Amino acid sequence: MAAQILDGKALSQQVREEVKVEVDKLVAQGVQPGLHVVLVGEDPASAIYVRNKGKACEKVGINGVTHKLPEETSEADLLALLNQLNSDPEVDGILVQLPLPKHISEEKVNAAMDPARDVDGFLPVNLGKLLIGRHGLVACTPAGIMRLIDASGIDYKGKRAVVIGRSVIVGKPTALLLMERHASISICHSRTHDLAQRAAEADILVAAIGRAKMIKGDWVKEGAVVIDVGMNRDEDGKLCGDVDFAEASEKAAWITPVPGGVGPMTIAYLLRNTVIACCARRGLPAPFVYR
Ligand code: GUN
Repeated sequence: MAAQILDGKALSQQVREEVKVEVDKLVAQGVQPGLHVVLVGEDPASAIYVRNKGKACEKVGINGVTHKLPEETSEADLLALLNQLNSDPEVDGILVQLPLPKHISEEKVNAAMDPARDVDGFLPVNLGKLLIGRHGLVACTPAGIMRLIDASGIDYKGKRAVVIGRSVIVGKPTALLLMERHASISICHSRTHDLAQRAAEADILVAAIGRAKMIKGDWVKEGAVVIDVGMNRDEDGKLCGDVDFAEASEKAAWITPVPGGVGPMTIAYLLRNTVIACCARRGLPAPFVYR
């Protein structure tokens, strides 16, 4: 039986509407959340991502500001800008678009950023809070993944969840969030033995490994929820995920498409994090119950 689609486009629209309701309430109190995005260099994909973030802010009433810096910007100048943003009371969220040019240390940039404004949820303080079960700002893609899985209606308790990919920004935080919901987790990766068999045991399978159509039909358990974080090009140059959608959707009960699955959720959760950061920083009540 063909799987049902977890529609990230529609669900992200719902999240954006929830965010807009909260922004409207804040604006009525004289507070406009502000998100500052810093782009260094001319990477065309990054330029598109940053433009989309700006447009998304505008649609929900967040004051989105983009700082475009030339490729040759020195590390010291970038750190100085971050310092300035850290002390500006109107700046609720700061996002430094990655990848950075090679001469700039990501570690130093992270160290210079105020964790209360880390709407990416990438800083050690926020990742550490997630580890000990106290939410700070949760990374946008993992938070969006959880919302997609929620939409399947699956009861996480005791289920086997397999995350393929161990990145700090997707694989690890997603596994922690799944564990928090009482799933039993395995984190697999390119060096895992018998990867296909491990994947095929999963009630919830999250693929974040970055290889086009790697997850075949026989890697998927009958009735599983399959979340595809991949964003790759296939042999014809067409956008595709880490999952072979045609094969996997014959086995799964629920599956995310690429495009239109996880991608739109990431940006919606960035907006949501900006509102969360805004309220926390300004001593206002938390606008969302985390989930
Ligand atoms: N580059 C690609 N995706 C992201 C993201 O989610 N956050 C940042 N900061 N950079 C990115």
